[in-house]
Amino acid sequence: MMWYKDAIIYQVHVRAFLDSNGDGTGDFPGLTEKLDYIQELGVNCIWLLPFFPSPLKDDGYDIAKYRRVHPAYGTLTDFRKFVREAHRRDIRVLIELVINHTSDQHRWFQEARRARPHSKARNYYVWSDTDQKYKDAPIIFVDSETSNWTWDPVAKAYYWHRFFRHQPDLNFDNPTVVKEVVEVLHFWLNLGVDGFRLDAVPYLVEREGTKCENLLETHEVLKRIRYEVDAHHREKVLLAEANLWPADVVQYFGNNDECHMAFHFPLMPRMYMAVRKEDRHPVTDILEQTPEIPDGCQWAIFLRNHDELTLEMVTDEEQDYMYKEYAVDPKMRLNRGIRRRLAPLLDNSRRRTELLTSLLFSFRGTPIIYYGDEIGMGDNIYLGDRTGVRTPMQWNSDRNAGFSRADFATLYSPPVMDPIYGYQSVNVEAQQRNPSSLLNWMRQMIVLRKQHPTFGRGTIEFIRPANRKILAYARTYEQNTILCVANLSRFVQPVELDLSAFAGMIPVEMLGKTEFPRIGAQPYFFSLGPHGFYWFELIKR
Ligand code: NOJ
Repeated sequence: MMWYKDAIIYQVHVRAFLDSNGDGTGDFPGLTEKLDYIQELGVNCIWLLPFFPSPLKDDGYDIAKYRRVHPAYGTLTDFRKFVREAHRRDIRVLIELVINHTSDQHRWFQEARRARPHSKARNYYVWSDTDQKYKDAPIIFVDSETSNWTWDPVAKAYYWHRFFRHQPDLNFDNPTVVKEVVEVLHFWLNLGVDGFRLDAVPYLVEREGTKCENLLETHEVLKRIRYEVDAHHREKVLLAEANLWPADVVQYFGNNDECHMAFHFPLMPRMYMAVRKEDRHPVTDILEQTPEIPDGCQWAIFLRNHDELTLEMVTDEEQDYMYKEYAVDPKMRLNRGIRRRLAPLLDNSRRRTELLTSLLFSFRGTPIIYYGDEIGMGDNIYLGDRTGVRTPMQWNSDRNAGFSRADFATLYSPPVMDPIYGYQSVNVEAQQRNPSSLLNWMRQMIVLRKQHPTFGRGTIEFIRPANRKILAYARTYEQNTILCVANLSRFVQPVELDLSAFAGMIPVEMLGKTEFPRIGAQPYFFSLGPHGFYWFELIKR
């Protein structure tokens, strides 16, 4: 029951994983070939970036056909085979449901712009004679768009788009659109997928005088989608992409009748802040502001993904801090965020990578690993938009990182080739051979996390030692308690923890199974090495 609570999700771009036919682009047969690797990593769920036919002006988030596979990525048969092979390995598959908008190449848009105003076909999208409506709705891609309206010379009207101008927003006030979307959903669920990441869900419906976000009408659409999922399928999951403050995001869980999961966007930058400031406050503060969520629901937590590291959920001051500490070169900045991968953000520090990963794996929620971060891949900030964090997976030190046998010039993107993060130094094959590689460390942590449902299902309670460089918390589920202690500082730190609530118990360090002295009524003393962290199972004996 509720498998998603125990999941560890691996986010993959089909395009970037393995090119099986030598055309320079990753594809489903390639991904299927690499399922053994994903299985060995230990994750039990894959989230795929969009793989539908698309002009790829937003890397597939501009869908031109909802029920097909992009020809460069393979066929529906290849997709079916991939799902079957994933399931055979007990790996679930989540795909994208991008319904706020389509590509302007979608047949619906092409028909809409040519149709009479207010006709059935025209009403699939949001049109206006002026660009002055919905003025309170912010622009999201501030680096590339100046308005949410674009004039269409064919329709002789403006159409509404919250993202790029080539991504017209569907009109969710039109019941036919809702019906179409529901059919798309059934189509993919019937093919066996285990759920969807719902892209850009806060923006489905527009109303004058509002920011056109999180409207009641939008929640109604989501409730309808959930109803359809529950009525016709079993154990399927909806994951909301809503980049909002915790109090607003929780609305997307509804009363257990909307999304099963939602990303915790505000937590993510605060993990980076806590480590840089060497102070637990950013993390404890945001988690304290996070309301309880219904029983069937779960947070999805992450350190990086395919987009820029978004700073929309921080104050202006915090944003300045993040830019100063994590994006000195203006090239690293995009929209309101930072387009860098995990390892370069952390100056390639193994200790800090392990520390942040240990937090990710032990906080409340289901962790998501972005492909390549398990081997410490780098980025290329000189490629446009967000392509620099979507470069080919680095399999070995052969030509094109072992990703493709195509001529270098035909690759969809060059692999990373710099001396630190390039595929000669950072690749799967080398790390598989080295027992103390990051990859092998990740595997070990994933095994450990999977052994303890407490991580995915338990409560979290912070312990507040006087030393604020220490982040300590107890995770409890049923009769089990896990104590996590992390040193956010780059220097060794002492800490006295009030563990009186656990007096009489014995902490057993979980990686080495080492028993520590029994907890008494007095404060419990630890010293932690630079960026060190411990996970203890508390045992009664
Ligand atoms: C959010 C996705 O994560 C991003 O990659 C995309 O550009 C926008 N939605 C628009 O679909």
